[in-house]
Amino acid sequence: MEVNRKKRYYLKMKEVGLNWRITRIGNLKKERVKLKYVVSNTYDQMSLKAAKYVADAIKAKPGIVLGLPTGGTPIGMYKELVRMHKEEGLDFSQVKTFNLDEYLGLAGDHNQSYRYFMKSNLFSQVNIQERNINFLSGIASDPIAECKRYEEAIVAAGGIDLMILGIGVNGHIGFNEPAKELKANSHLIDLAQSTIDANARFFDNKEEVPTRAITMGVGSILRCKEIILLASGKSKEDAIDGTTNGVVTTDLPASLLQLHSDVTLFLDDEAAAKVDR
Ligand code: F6R
Repeated sequence: MEVNRKKRYYLKMKEVGLNWRITRIGNLKKERVKLKYVVSNTYDQMSLKAAKYVADAIKAKPGIVLGLPTGGTPIGMYKELVRMHKEEGLDFSQVKTFNLDEYLGLAGDHNQSYRYFMKSNLFSQVNIQERNINFLSGIASDPIAECKRYEEAIVAAGGIDLMILGIGVNGHIGFNEPAKELKANSHLIDLAQSTIDANARFFDNKEEVPTRAITMGVGSILRCKEIILLASGKSKEDAIDGTTNGVVTTDLPASLLQLHSDVTLFLDDEAAAKVDR
């Protein structure tokens, strides 16, 4: 009886053309309720699972547009993607990429620039085409115009299908540092002292660590169709707690990811320690 009533209701809705919309709204609601989690025991397992996820996305859409992070966290994932290319033929020939950020003042061939990092860890080892690689230039004579150019290039590519993020100990994503206000689009930013300190490990001495960067904004990130975020280790447990606890605040920029309907967190046990799943 109940079933018949429901069926009649949906048939009626179909008649008046509302069926599709009701289903869509239902789906959106379901997706919005919760962030998705893939939790692993170790960093290596987390890296393998994230790489497999990205590889599957590339196979499903060979011309996929990816958003990419640098830093210590994604190195294991990039290593596995390179292995998959070399041993299993994972094809990057049509893949397009947009990196999240770049240090201001560093040219792409500087060995601490993010472009150099991407070249060594991924681009030089797979069959991606140079013209499909996009970066904010750290040495643009007009950084504001450079940010505008980047946003337009993302739109021209059809938007970013899959954004891969790391997270700072202070909850930054890209180089969107905790602040009273956040910028929506790509912009110049003064790095937080905690970020400068964390990045110092990659430089010979502290004085060389850049204090400014050029980064996608939180809007550039939230406009991506799908987002995955990787985090590993105890130093990230509080940032991940703040990303997942239901509160949205510019004091912890990654918390804004809770406003997006398709986010998956790839975590190891330590980073996931405080998450209420
Ligand atoms: C780097 C980036 C940053 C890093 C974050 C975590 O392109 O956008 O947000 O993802 O600082 O860095 P690691 O992985 O070194 O802890």
